[in-house]
Amino acid sequence: MLTLQSKWRYLVMILGVQLVVMALLSREGYHKRVTYFFQILRKLEASTGPGIGGSGLSGPSLHNQTGRDVYANLSLLGKAQTTEDNLPYCPKKSPLVGGPIHVTFPSGLTLAQVERKNPLVVRGGRYRPPNCEARHRTAIIIPHRNREHHLKFLLYYLHPFLQRQQLNYGIYIIHQEGNYTFNRAKLMNVGFREAMREEEWDCLFFHDVDLIPEDDRNTYICDAHPKHAAIAMDKFRYKLPYKSYFGGVSALTPQQYLKMNGFPNNYWGWGGEDDDIGVRVSLGGMLISRPALNVGRYKMIKHKLDQGNEINPRRFNMLAKTRHTWKQDGMNTVEYEIVRREHLPLYTNITVNIGTEKGLTPHTGKSQSQTPVTEH
Ligand SMILES: *[C@@H]1O[C@H](CO)[C@@H](O)[C@H](O)[C@H]1NC(C)=O
Ligand SMILES: *[C@@H]1O[C@H](CO)[C@@H](O)[C@H](O)[C@H]1NC(C)=O
Ligand SMILES: *[C@@H]1O[C@H](CO)[C@@H](O)[C@H](O)[C@H]1NC(C)=O
Ligand SMILES: *[C@@H]1O[C@H](CO)[C@@H](O)[C@H](O)[C@H]1NC(C)=O
Repeated sequence: MLTLQSKWRYLVMILGVQLVVMALLSREGYHKRVTYFFQILRKLEASTGPGIGGSGLSGPSLHNQTGRDVYANLSLLGKAQTTEDNLPYCPKKSPLVGGPIHVTFPSGLTLAQVERKNPLVVRGGRYRPPNCEARHRTAIIIPHRNREHHLKFLLYYLHPFLQRQQLNYGIYIIHQEGNYTFNRAKLMNVGFREAMREEEWDCLFFHDVDLIPEDDRNTYICDAHPKHAAIAMDKFRYKLPYKSYFGGVSALTPQQYLKMNGFPNNYWGWGGEDDDIGVRVSLGGMLISRPALNVGRYKMIKHKLDQGNEINPRRFNMLAKTRHTWKQDGMNTVEYEIVRREHLPLYTNITVNIGTEKGLTPHTGKSQSQTPVTEH
């Protein structure tokens, strides 16, 4: 199995070298091919499990164990205040932000431990700096299903990471109900609307559950243009895989989100939707903003492709049509049904029925659509 895998990788590498040569011969169409190359790579990874940074090909820098504990000095930010009036604004740059963070995945971590480490996080996964008025309000939107193991690690790192940046923040898990094919982008649309219903967030971070930020200078605030934050992942050897890549972690203001009509609703299964979103940014007349390469670093928690998130075979066809479909498919047409809303200690869990390609009828045939909305 392993040798077969490395043969595959070797083959893909050869293919990559050929692409570069082809690119030198004709710069036109280069980008398309490189994009395709990385899609093959990603597909291969998805089918074999670990990423290319995971084993044989990884360089020494991938095992760099420097960086601070993400919880270091957090208590210096102060204790919870009883009077909340007339707090001064937080400084423009948080005194705790300072560089690389040490990320490992210890076995045996529990949510209860994460709770104890984050005493100032309140119901629904909300936090505001205790001694100053935050300059930014950021909602984290995490599409989710059956990834509790990853979620635990993400929460362990993300809560203190955001507190170091002195943000007013909230964490939303958007849980796709049922077993039908996963639809990441549609869940993001749901997250956008439901988060904005609760609070006037000025920035939304659309965040994969398996990506852990590795540098606290990667501030979770929005820019003048839609921001792609996860530009340097370990699985792509800390480089941007291709120029228009917009996957993993991205950030938009509500205005930017609506300007591109949100995300597409019709990408069922794995792949394609992040490229579609990247195209929407430019169709909406905007550019992609990015942090510095040494700051937008992420570690991916390794996993196999989930059941119910099979590769979407239609993704290339769909992507080719985006410029004709984006105005008819997106935030203005998203249909769903909230099944449950739970404000838990470390996050808000929003369970949603997003239906199937054919509409909102649950595929199981059970009459789940009658489930009343419950508030907790
Ligand atoms: C480890 O990372 C730090 C900070 O990013 C860097 O200064 C250092 O050179 C790295 N060490 C190695 C061995 O890559
Ligand atoms: C924690 O704070 C102390 C005192 O301000 C400082 O010397 C130290 O470098 C800080 N450590 C980290 C990891 O930020
Ligand atoms: C989903 O699949 C699991 C196991 O295959 C099954 O136990 C469960 O009832 C299914 N849920 C729905 C809503 O169909
Ligand atoms: C969210 O709520 C749903 C429905 O109660 C539940 O099945 C799911 O496990 C919850 N997810 C998380 C991460 O708490």
